[in-house]
Amino acid sequence: MGCVKDLAELNDLTSIPTKYTYFNTFDQEDGIDAVAAEEKIPIIDFPLLNSAIPDQRAKVIQDLGKACQDWGFFMLVNHGVPESLMERMLAICQEFFNQPEDVKLQSAEEHVLAPLRYGTSFNPSVDKVFFWRDFLRIWMHPQFYSPPTPAGFSEIAMEYSQRTRQVARELLRGISQSLGLEECYIDKAMEMDSCFQILVANLYPPCPQPELAMGFPPHSDTGLLTLLIQNQNGGLQVNHNGKWVNVHVSSPNTILVNVADHLERLSNGKYKSVLHRAIVNNKTTRISLAETHGPCPDKIVTPVAELVENETYPAVYPGMTYKEEMYSRLSNQIAGKSHLEPLH
Ligand code: SIN
Ligand code: FE2
Repeated sequence: MGCVKDLAELNDLTSIPTKYTYFNTFDQEDGIDAVAAEEKIPIIDFPLLNSAIPDQRAKVIQDLGKACQDWGFFMLVNHGVPESLMERMLAICQEFFNQPEDVKLQSAEEHVLAPLRYGTSFNPSVDKVFFWRDFLRIWMHPQFYSPPTPAGFSEIAMEYSQRTRQVARELLRGISQSLGLEECYIDKAMEMDSCFQILVANLYPPCPQPELAMGFPPHSDTGLLTLLIQNQNGGLQVNHNGKWVNVHVSSPNTILVNVADHLERLSNGKYKSVLHRAIVNNKTTRISLAETHGPCPDKIVTPVAELVENETYPAVYPGMTYKEEMYSRLSNQIAGKSHLEPLH
């Protein structure tokens, strides 16, 4: 199956092939339009989490908790990941996608669970509609994988993965405190020294009929936190109080962060694993790099006992490790939040 990039580059492409028609196929009543955020998307100023001024620290931890609770989403600024590294990482991923299809296909494992996987759509064997997106998915931790080309990919990706992992772990310390837990609670309980970190590089080429196609359909993420960066082009929408909200990033040096399913579960439903989607446009190529920071692959994640005061997420789950659960989701369906539903 050809990639979307090659399809989009055909000179006379004025309409999309039927299999890419998303909005009509499923009678989606909500089109690509989104409302402007009525309230502002929360912004978290990262260094304040370690401020020497206790009041400042307490305030940002409170803000962080509120962002996770009300939005499941926030923008992180002053995070310390060098802007030049973010730019190099975006550029090398673009270079990956610019390679001829047969070169990229060297990283195209058939198996959805492969540690290195280039592809398009999600899982052609189960998807009813195809998405306007090519992707490269790579495991970065505890084991690091890299495509063989382009040259320099593995060095840049390794550095990027280390720097962002530190940021994610620091955020989880703040989040632990915001839940009234010890600072290191989540880090220890989830064995974050062995955290499962996966990078998905998404390429959304210009699309002649953006109102019909979908880049990435509504879903929530597995794991604890997702950190996302993008080139200058927007397209991400988050669902807030039942409405799609466009995420506009004012500074390119911003990391977008969302709460993922296992943090929702761990917090016994207090923090929301937000539904989000990516729409496409007819002018520019968008690249986004979404990194899942999950627990140790062998952890079975259940709500923290101290937080279980109600029946939101009673600890009735399949006895699945994070890795098994993530795999089962990848190989079945991605849309929705199916694995958060307790099994009865
Ligand atoms: C994702 O949800 O992983 C990707 C969304 C985006 O491209 O903004
Ligand atoms: Fe996502």
